Amino acid sequence: MPLIVTLTLTPSLDTATSTAKVYPEGKLRCQAPVFEPGGGGINVARAITHLGGQATALLPSGGPTGAHLVELLQQEGVTVDALQTHDWTRQNLHVVSDATGEQFRFVMPGAALHEDEWQQLLTKIAQLPAGTLLVLSGSLPPNMTTSAVTELLQCARQQGLRTIVDSSGDALKAAVAFGGLELLKPNQSELAELTGQSLEQPDQVVNAARSLISQGAAKRIVVSLGPQGALAVDAEQCIQVVPPPVIKRSTVGAGDSMVGAMVLKLAEDAPLADMVRFGVAAGTAATMNQGTKLCSKDDTEKLYQYLQQQ
Ligand SMILES: Nc1ncnc2c1ncn2[C@@H]1O[C@H](COP(=O)(O)OP(=O)(O)OP(=O)(O)O)[C@@H](O)[C@H]1O
Ligand SMILES: [Mg+2]
Repeated sequence: MPLIVTLTLTPSLDTATSTAKVYPEGKLRCQAPVFEPGGGGINVARAITHLGGQATALLPSGGPTGAHLVELLQQEGVTVDALQTHDWTRQNLHVVSDATGEQFRFVMPGAALHEDEWQQLLTKIAQLPAGTLLVLSGSLPPNMTTSAVTELLQCARQQGLRTIVDSSGDALKAAVAFGGLELLKPNQSELAELTGQSLEQPDQVVNAARSLISQGAAKRIVVSLGPQGALAVDAEQCIQVVPPPVIKRSTVGAGDSMVGAMVLKLAEDAPLADMVRFGVAAGTAATMNQGTKLCSKDDTEKLYQYLQQQ
């Protein structure tokens, strides 16, 4: 089995709490906070671990917040490769108002990554064995431009790594322009922004994905469609997978769970259909859990079995 490594350039120590009601000026007394690891690649590594696989989360970690984040990941059984950084890891805040059930998600800017730290991260990537599955997911630090994405992909290509990209905006554009990706996982609106099309008509999503494949952007594209599942396209096939109706509690973490599951199937060299079914199963399993919880193995396997029989 190839090694699976996820890279998160803007990790976060997420803090979740609740308060009776959110209102201005006064003190909002909150419940004891619960800390959780946060960040795209980090959640992909966590989802892989939840599903019984093994992944290494590569991340910059700074200060006591970074140390706490690393400890939480290790407690969950995720292998961590942390690069010590000068700036402290950010802390996002998630507050639920008990009165209304509303959720307030305060997202801080990611910690800056200094040039020498960036070079050290690239060195770590250049030391990975050929064939490693490298997942790039999450945003860029505020002091970095999308040329970092190109530099990263170049380094991965030289090393013979297989890259999986879950990104948006200009970073996604840069990855697509670089091309040759193993797997690209945009959702419908990310694909619309990327292609500059509204994608409202039947066939538009399929055609947009097919044209990216024929341009050489990626070997496989999975467009996730929320409750409608996902559409997987490669040079030969186009497969839509629709999940069964489930009780949806929170969609947070659905995309990351989906990517984690699909990377596990890529590691097994599974066919496209199995990969997307397992991805939809994990994404849907994540929506069955409250709050920020990712997919459970049990729910994912039950949904996967159901989708295999369709
Ligand atoms: N409401 C839902 N009901 C059932 N399954 C869902 C629902 N929302 C998401 N999913 C599952 O999760 C997968 C990924 O969801 P989605 O398309 O929303 O990704 P995303 O926009 O990248 O998510 P995220 O906001 O986590 O990044 C879907 O393909 C589907 O399998
Ligand atoms: Mg997403």
